[in-house]
Amino acid sequence: MSKIYQVTGIGLNEKNLQLQETIFHNANGYIGVRGTLEEGVPADFDTMRGMYINGFYDIAPMKQAEKLCNLVEDKESMLNVADTQTIEVSFDGQKFSMADDADCRYVRTLDMEKGITRREVDWSNKEGKQLHFNITRMASFEERSLFTIDYCFQSIDFSGTVEIHSRHLGLVRNYFNPKDPRLAGESHNHLKKEDVHICESGACLVSSTVESHLKVASAVANIVTVNQKRQPSEVVTYDETAHAMDVSYRFDIRPGDEVRIIKYSIFTDSIREEDCRNVADEKLSKVVEQGIASYYKKQQEYLKEFWNNSSMEIVGDRDLNESLCFNMYQLLQSAGYDGYSSIAAKGLSGEGYEGHYFWDTEMFMVPYFAMTNPAIARKLLEYRYKTLGKAKENAALLGHKKGALYPWRTITGRECSGYYPSGTAQYHIDGDIAYAVILYYKTSGDWEFIKEMGLKILLETNRLWLDVGNYYKDRFVINCVTGPDEYTCIVNNNYYTNASAKYSMQWCLKFIQRLAEEKDAYQQFVKENDLTEEEIQAMKEAEEKMYLPYDETLGINPQDDSFLQKPIWDLEHTPQEEFPLLLHYHPLHLYRYQVCKQADTVLAHYLFPDYQDKETEENSFRYYEKITTHDSSLSTCVFSIMASRLGLKDKAYYYFGDSAKMDLLNTHKNSKDGIHAANMGGSYMAIVNGFARVQAEEDKLFLAPALPENWQGYHFRIRYHGSLLEVSVNKETCSIEQLEGTAITVELYGKEYVLEAANQKVEVPYQEN
Ligand code: BGC
Repeated sequence: MSKIYQVTGIGLNEKNLQLQETIFHNANGYIGVRGTLEEGVPADFDTMRGMYINGFYDIAPMKQAEKLCNLVEDKESMLNVADTQTIEVSFDGQKFSMADDADCRYVRTLDMEKGITRREVDWSNKEGKQLHFNITRMASFEERSLFTIDYCFQSIDFSGTVEIHSRHLGLVRNYFNPKDPRLAGESHNHLKKEDVHICESGACLVSSTVESHLKVASAVANIVTVNQKRQPSEVVTYDETAHAMDVSYRFDIRPGDEVRIIKYSIFTDSIREEDCRNVADEKLSKVVEQGIASYYKKQQEYLKEFWNNSSMEIVGDRDLNESLCFNMYQLLQSAGYDGYSSIAAKGLSGEGYEGHYFWDTEMFMVPYFAMTNPAIARKLLEYRYKTLGKAKENAALLGHKKGALYPWRTITGRECSGYYPSGTAQYHIDGDIAYAVILYYKTSGDWEFIKEMGLKILLETNRLWLDVGNYYKDRFVINCVTGPDEYTCIVNNNYYTNASAKYSMQWCLKFIQRLAEEKDAYQQFVKENDLTEEEIQAMKEAEEKMYLPYDETLGINPQDDSFLQKPIWDLEHTPQEEFPLLLHYHPLHLYRYQVCKQADTVLAHYLFPDYQDKETEENSFRYYEKITTHDSSLSTCVFSIMASRLGLKDKAYYYFGDSAKMDLLNTHKNSKDGIHAANMGGSYMAIVNGFARVQAEEDKLFLAPALPENWQGYHFRIRYHGSLLEVSVNKETCSIEQLEGTAITVELYGKEYVLEAANQKVEVPYQEN
């Protein structure tokens, strides 16, 4: 399968500029750099020029119009850190700019095997003299602090003087758009200059944040050659006000000459390093010494291993494979890997949602990593474990006497959602995190993780459920919460929320029981966490008596207690330009209708299949399908999975198509602000958990693959309890081959098999189901 994505074009077009900045961004889970142009764009062009560090933030005011008790009044915001992208090149005084040559041809490439992006441009200056540019960028997986620009150009028929300015700008601001609630509404100056110094290989700027008092260091080195001969820099200037460094070069070239500028940028921060200034200097010296070629090589090796674990192919569908490949690659680029960070809703590709982490990670992306790269899944959960203390503080702020409530959106663990009805009130985030802990355990078998971190998360979040819920007519009810569907807020007994609380309690009790078999560990856990027998009993009772709303007349699970009392929104007669509804209607208006932004009960049915029968699931699917707008990008993938589970193959395929190509086709029209990372995980799940019906349980892996009409076949690799498996499906056969690992049990189309060791394979006739 080709792992190259390309677009070609002529001239600079403002319309697709920002979308390309997203699609061709470079990231490695630590730094993210938008695919902006080194030379910049004309001043009247809208561009989001940004370089970000996962989890690096400042605090911005978020004033509430009315001072109600304990509402949050500030938020964390991912910062645009120093801009090291600028490289300006002039030819006899004329700056290279794609805007000045309307006929210039360009090709932009994302090479997912090499882990680089490339921009090639054939450009002519005003005299019609031609130059060819070839600019390669990389965010290194080997050295996560490193971002490189390998800027080459060749003169075709130009003779004259070249002047190069390579800049490094310390004081930058974030992008904002007051008209779109999904972006920051205003911009603040978050960075102060601290220090500038020349280090062994280049120059380093250190800035600190105004409110969060963090530090970030960026160290940059330039190596310029003409026909492989090193050029000395001419002038190095420092502009105190802009906290900016400018290194310039000047020389003559002739037709055929090749110029190469290798710009190494190192970023370090005080969240991860005690002395980020010195670490940046040291790392810069190291990478310059090792040279860019060695990092290209290591990048390719890293990705070889990544694709070995993540390989997936739909036989004969080139476009779709390209999208799936793109989605998986973006998930890797976005994922925090160090326990200090998670995955922002837009990854590290843009400033939409201000770099905040939501339930998106646990429900849509952890499942992907658990199946392909369990070490990353574990780190993502470790991040939640590390912020458990803050989740307890958050619960206390909301009036709870016990337990932990994770924030709806956050960077460090503090609540950052300003509008609580569709923010803080989404208590299901506790159930989501618990679900991801359980899913990771089921897929990896990592009991040590549960003992060390997972069970504590489960205990504290279940304490919260016990505190927020109460008994009414002998049923455990949870009132005044918001489920995943943000067009229906502050309701009683949201089906999804109650089901996820029940599931989490069930597993918490199960884990406690298992831990009790390890006497010392159990006693230590009881002591450290003040676990009492009464609490265990309370959890048992709430779990058994959890109220799950059901409507006899329609045979469905209503989304919540009052959902079915509301009139149904007339979606058929709503003009296309009024979508997404959230940008055109007052929230209260939306709340009074049966209209869903995204899958809610349908998602619950996929996650918790034991709590309702198949008929209820199908009735519900058909009911909610008619009233769901999919205004959230987290929706169609869920409808696809559930359609597969119900055997509605055409629908599964239809919804899957929408989800798989969302960013490449810009179907939600806002990919310019960043990728839809959760949807990317969702499109993966639509194949593995949807079409192939993979379900990892504690002691067995279940599969019952189905093949959409339009596909000849598909195959993918997954990890289960340490084993690496290859699943292949075509119209005749379905097979599972164990590539690495020890004995595991699989159940294929209802029949059990044991794969004893590597190289064992089960192959059965394909079954239509
Ligand atoms: C969705 C949420 C999601 C958030 C970030 C919103 O539009 O409704 O479910 O968590 O976007 O992706």
